[in-house]
Amino acid sequence: MRILAIETSCDETSVAIVDDGRRVLCNLIATQFDLHAKYGGVVPEIASRAHIEKLDLLVREALDRTGTTPPEIDAIAVTRGPGLIGSLLVGVTAAKTLAWSWGKPLVGVNHIHAHAVSAAIDLDHDPWPAIALIVSGGHTSLYEVRDPLDIHLLGCTIDDAAGEAFDKVAMILNLGFPGGPVVDKRAAAGNPAAIKFPRTRLGADSLDFSFSGLKTAVLYHVHGPGQTTGGLQRLTEQNVNDLCASFSAAVVDVLVEKTLLAVRQRGLYTVVVGGGVAANSMLRSRLAAACADGGVALHLTPMQFCTDNATMIAALGYHLHAAGRTDDLTLTASASLPR
Ligand code: KG4
Ligand code: ZN
Repeated sequence: MRILAIETSCDETSVAIVDDGRRVLCNLIATQFDLHAKYGGVVPEIASRAHIEKLDLLVREALDRTGTTPPEIDAIAVTRGPGLIGSLLVGVTAAKTLAWSWGKPLVGVNHIHAHAVSAAIDLDHDPWPAIALIVSGGHTSLYEVRDPLDIHLLGCTIDDAAGEAFDKVAMILNLGFPGGPVVDKRAAAGNPAAIKFPRTRLGADSLDFSFSGLKTAVLYHVHGPGQTTGGLQRLTEQNVNDLCASFSAAVVDVLVEKTLLAVRQRGLYTVVVGGGVAANSMLRSRLAAACADGGVALHLTPMQFCTDNATMIAALGYHLHAAGRTDDLTLTASASLPR
């Protein structure tokens, strides 16, 4: 089963060709970092236009690179949401056009569920049932994945997503956009115990998250209580490294704690982790240690599939297609989807 998949939910245009949901023939990703960097965040209109400019070229390149002709494609999978509505519409319209003109089945895919399934891409066995921690720029959620088509939300952020907190802290420290990778790098040279930032737990049994208080704590640490400017120049390079490490530790502590709480609450012994923040080195190492201590199997999404990519859309699209859950040309994009 050969699937051509399209992902355009945010600021990455991606096209993949994947066999049987696992064998990745090609995974092309055009990032838009340069276009959004000067604004410190993704500008929806700019993102949509960039998807329009790139998508046709990537589809052509994916076919050329893999030597695939349209008759060899079995289905077209596409992210239908959640995400930026203009960006999603570009991908969904392109997918519908290809499905119609090539006479192929169309499969609309939930982006967050695809992140959850992406951890299994290069495993030789199915890891389900599992607790999935999905940590990205737009979402921070815990799911119980009974199988790729049976996914239940256990908890999610009530304000900022973890990746959003990384991006905002990078903006406070003037480190550029997206913030996650640079804060991760600076944290590696810092002391995670240097500053005691708050850990918001929202109750002993809660699987929900909150990161907006932490972001404000970083802001006031930099500029002084109640101040929003003027403090940055007082920080040395080492102060910034320590701040990045202490902030990262506050985020990671809560993510690790709640993931293991979900494991205990649901009586499961496997954890999978996906989404852009799953690339974070402190999260990867602390989760590995905590899961090893608790006798829990941990599957981290391979680094190249942590940030947005069409391979994960093909992976979940494969299961949906196999179960007959295809869509017709009335498929629409949706900025928010039931999670
Ligand atoms: O999954 P993704 O590509 O897009 C969304 O669906 O949001 O995630 C992007 C997010 C950004 O907020 C970025 O700063 C964060 O993932 N990120 C990281 C790292 N790499 C990317 N956060 C922390 N550490 C990283 N190494
Ligand atoms: Zn994502």
